[in-house]
Amino acid sequence: MKLIINRYNPENDQAPYEQFFEVDDALIQPDTMLLEVLQMVREQDPSLGFRSSCQEGVCGSDGMNVNGKNHLSCITPVTSLKQPIVIKPLPGLPIIKDLIIDMKLFYQQYQDVKPFLQATPLNPSQEHLQTPKERAKLDGSYECILCGCCSTSCPSFWWNPDQFSGPAALLAASRFVIDSRDIKHIERLKELDSPTKTFRCRHIQNCTDACPKGLNPSRAIQELKSIMVKES
Ligand code: SF4
Ligand code: SF4
Ligand code: FES
Repeated sequence: MKLIINRYNPENDQAPYEQFFEVDDALIQPDTMLLEVLQMVREQDPSLGFRSSCQEGVCGSDGMNVNGKNHLSCITPVTSLKQPIVIKPLPGLPIIKDLIIDMKLFYQQYQDVKPFLQATPLNPSQEHLQTPKERAKLDGSYECILCGCCSTSCPSFWWNPDQFSGPAALLAASRFVIDSRDIKHIERLKELDSPTKTFRCRHIQNCTDACPKGLNPSRAIQELKSIMVKES
């Protein structure tokens, strides 16, 4: 199996470059995931940098760009990929080393939308109940694992990372805007109702296409915009 992997160590390199690796085909099974192959490559070259943790699509730490599309390496079967497999870091954020990017801006965008329930009373002694119908509205928005595959595939994010909130943060925002228990509905909408934060989304749908959890941030943003227009 042939791979071309982005390398960059800011301590030694002027710029990122590509390095060719080969892994013995005899080690590849039909269910071998890309992360396992990267671990084999790291046995050849222990200096290769990439993140991973859960190895089962839950922690969101191993997002990377594979043959031009963002994926989680731990749930990407290598046999489904055209060779040589070209692996780069998620685009649009600074590279720390090889396939490891600096997610600070991505997390800041998430933090900015206040991704937590603001209910009354603020220190409840009892549960805030929802009807099954109200609860069902949250399906498709709370399952996000913050891998960043969506935001880093979004042209509006690449061009205006400091102004556009990005699909992951907007999906989180919409999750609380539609939550029947949240009392800051109006404040949340006011905060997001700006030509840059939300309306920079052009519904190109790269985000939805890239989401490894099958979520649809593009639709959530569209719904958020409709609520804003209706309530303005
Ligand atoms: S639909 Fe919106 S958020 Fe998603 S990739 Fe396109 S511009 Fe970005
Ligand atoms: S919406 Fe999907 S792609 Fe975006 S951060 Fe969440 S899980 Fe990852
Ligand atoms: S290692 Fe946790 S999602 Fe891939």
